[in-house]
Amino acid sequence: MSNHEHHENAHKPAQRKEMSRRQFLSYTLGGTTAFMMGGAVLPMVRFAVDPLLVKKGEGTYVKVVEESKITNEPQEFKFTVHQIDGWYVSDPELSAWISKDENNTIFALSPVCKHLGCTIGWNVKGKNEFDCPCHDARYTKDGKNLAVAPNPLDEYEVKLEDGFVYLGPIKPNTRV
Ligand code: FES
Repeated sequence: MSNHEHHENAHKPAQRKEMSRRQFLSYTLGGTTAFMMGGAVLPMVRFAVDPLLVKKGEGTYVKVVEESKITNEPQEFKFTVHQIDGWYVSDPELSAWISKDENNTIFALSPVCKHLGCTIGWNVKGKNEFDCPCHDARYTKDGKNLAVAPNPLDEYEVKLEDGFVYLGPIKPNTRV
């Protein structure tokens, strides 16, 4: 091997190294740019197709309890709802206070206090009222706000079918 060849060969690995570093940089920068562009563009695409991604669980009813178990005294029943929000799927557990009124009409109230969102309980203080443990809000059996809270308890849509109580979306209280 001549001195000249030796000299050339000595440089070859360095050239390959230089190329791969350049490729690495271009891939990395290209990838980062694409990632950042994706971050900026995806929300716009999501916004554009949002109506197609409306929660599948919305407007649907969930079977909660046998109609025969409902009494005039409010009872708390827990149930889960299957929610699909875009790519996010969840099964949160909800609860409702379900009872009958003087006409034997079944209704269901949300347990979320209308003051700051704590969870209310029935007859905790022995006054046949819903009580909130956080700041002492009180509500009647129909959910009418008596103290502290600015609004009545929300209501669930109720559907009776084949001897079962089904609960639907939450709506503002229609009873008070
Ligand atoms: S959150 Fe219920 S009284 Fe404040």
